[in-house]
Amino acid sequence: MSLKAIMETVLVVGATGNIGVSAVTAALRSKRNVLAIVRNKNSADKLVKYTGSSKGITFAEADVLSDSGVKCVVDQVRAGNPGFPACVFQRISPPPNYATTLTSPSKPTSVSSSNLEDPTPSDISFAVAYRDTIGYLLEQKNPASTWTICTGSQGDLATHPVPAMTQGALFPLTTAAARENESTNVRFNEIYLGYRVEVDEIAVQHGTKSSDFGNVYELILANSEVRSSRVRVDNLDDLKKLKYQKKF
Ligand SMILES: NC(=O)c1ccc[n+]([C@@H]2O[C@H](COP(=O)([O-])OP(=O)(O)OC[C@H]3O[C@@H](n4cnc5c(N)ncnc54)[C@H](OP(=O)(O)O)[C@@H]3O)[C@@H](O)[C@H]2O)c1
Repeated sequence: MSLKAIMETVLVVGATGNIGVSAVTAALRSKRNVLAIVRNKNSADKLVKYTGSSKGITFAEADVLSDSGVKCVVDQVRAGNPGFPACVFQRISPPPNYATTLTSPSKPTSVSSSNLEDPTPSDISFAVAYRDTIGYLLEQKNPASTWTICTGSQGDLATHPVPAMTQGALFPLTTAAARENESTNVRFNEIYLGYRVEVDEIAVQHGTKSSDFGNVYELILANSEVRSSRVRVDNLDDLKKLKYQKKF
């Protein structure tokens, strides 16, 4: 069977989060399947509530902050185990964060071990997820493969030091991954988000809807020229037309 004949599947880490729901929505809207890594059944139910249906979504339960969580899922796909889509998958990964912008302290002097203790920072979860999936995508040799990560402008602005530390730590990792894949079949890109995105029902209070932000993922999936780039999302216009620049 040719690669084209196999329906693409997007693996989403952090699938039930604000950004993960955007990625899931984008994949489904662009007629792809989703392999959603979720913490447990409750999280899976939450995602179905956000998307309105489980159609097109396969759920894989794993602790993505453990050293083997994502690897176990990829091993199942590779082994063709029933229940896991044996197919080419594209990958979109927003890593879990360990402090949200809205609830974390705004002064460096207010940062304490309680802000930092749990769970694992997003740079570690990104490194593990990248390490345990990129090999599979390279093996598949599908020229349409992508790997997308969402970082944020907090990493530069630092009005909230805790998310700033986690987002800032991702910048060199994303550049290294983009460089590593510059000449491979995988288009690695970073979305640099300049404002708050939240799942639709919460966004009405103070954010942009996940379903609207999903447009950015759709545009990246559709545009093969976006490679090793930082895609900046600073305002609502950037949800309609990609603003991207090569990282090096
Ligand atoms: N939201 C924004 O506006 C924004 C802006 C800039 C950058 N970002 C970046 O995007 C990333 C995601 O942000 P977000 O707002 O989507 O975060 P979020 O809403 O807190 O989502 C975190 C996701 O990670 C999952 N998760 C956490 N620990 C897990 C574990 N041990 N095992 C399995 N799943 C686990 C959560 O699952 P449960 O649902 O089960 O808890 C949830 O799906 C972060 O790195 C953040 O810095 C976000």
